[in-house]
Amino acid sequence: MKCKICKATAVVALKSHNAAFCADCYRDFFARQVERGIRGAPGPDGTHGESLFRKGERILVALSGGKDSLALMLELSRQGHDVTGLFVDLAIPGSSSAARAVVERFCAAHGLPLRVADLAAEGLAIPRVRERLRRPVCSVCGKIKRHIFNRAALDGGFDALATGHNLDDEVARLFSNTLRWDTAYLSDQGPLLPAEPGFARKVKPLWRLTEFETANYAFLMGIEHHHAPCPYSPGASFTTLKGVLQRLEAAMPGRKLDFYQGFLARGKAAFARREVEAGAPLAPCGRCGSPTSSGELCGVCRIRQAVADGGVA
Ligand code: FES
Ligand code: ZN
Repeated sequence: MKCKICKATAVVALKSHNAAFCADCYRDFFARQVERGIRGAPGPDGTHGESLFRKGERILVALSGGKDSLALMLELSRQGHDVTGLFVDLAIPGSSSAARAVVERFCAAHGLPLRVADLAAEGLAIPRVRERLRRPVCSVCGKIKRHIFNRAALDGGFDALATGHNLDDEVARLFSNTLRWDTAYLSDQGPLLPAEPGFARKVKPLWRLTEFETANYAFLMGIEHHHAPCPYSPGASFTTLKGVLQRLEAAMPGRKLDFYQGFLARGKAAFARREVEAGAPLAPCGRCGSPTSSGELCGVCRIRQAVADGGVA
């Protein structure tokens, strides 16, 4: 098999793009897809919507130690964007320190700035939260991480918070939200969530690239990553849905990207209108200042309180 661009021996074949690439041309392909992703999703008239961010803006990249977030950080820095990494240390024995070491080595090797938020120091170590709460720890952990990402982006004066969500993550989420007709989530799903008072701008520059495409990039760039699953949630989220979508994609290459782009261009707006009417009033949390609709303290500060008191939230 030959590279579609330079005719050298190909190392990656992509059915959805009906193409094969050598290592160098594949890296260029990946870079172009990220650039197109940053330019924004198509609008209803086929033109590009708002771009995710511009050169010179300060981007905080949430780094988990997985290949997607590290690939994102590396590619954004290669494209000359002003990036800083953020690692949230969940204090889960074994897994957190291993992921943290991978992220620290990656940033040191590429000369990239890194910030670490230590949940143990915040009174939110996940093993302690897990002991205290009756709810499944994964959803609480996700909520705490989103809270910490948002605070770090706002307090650090960043223009946007970037995460490594790829096309498979986005399509699985869209499919899941659609199966439940969850209009609240459907109204703001997408690669760009603009800033609002108390909320940083959130961006997902890898939205055009599949897990497979990102994994190939990480491999070709020699990115070492942390791949042990979380001990508290051995099944990756959306595993079943991703399997169904994988089979669909195998039968109809390119369908995943079409489905997601079609939603962004023509579906999403229908849900946005409903959410404007349904929005609950927000007020700042008495402890951390984050917007909340649930009274005196925000959800995360209530969890922190419950963990400190030894109670159950
Ligand atoms: Fe948060 Fe596993 S519970 S990563
Ligand atoms: Zn709070």
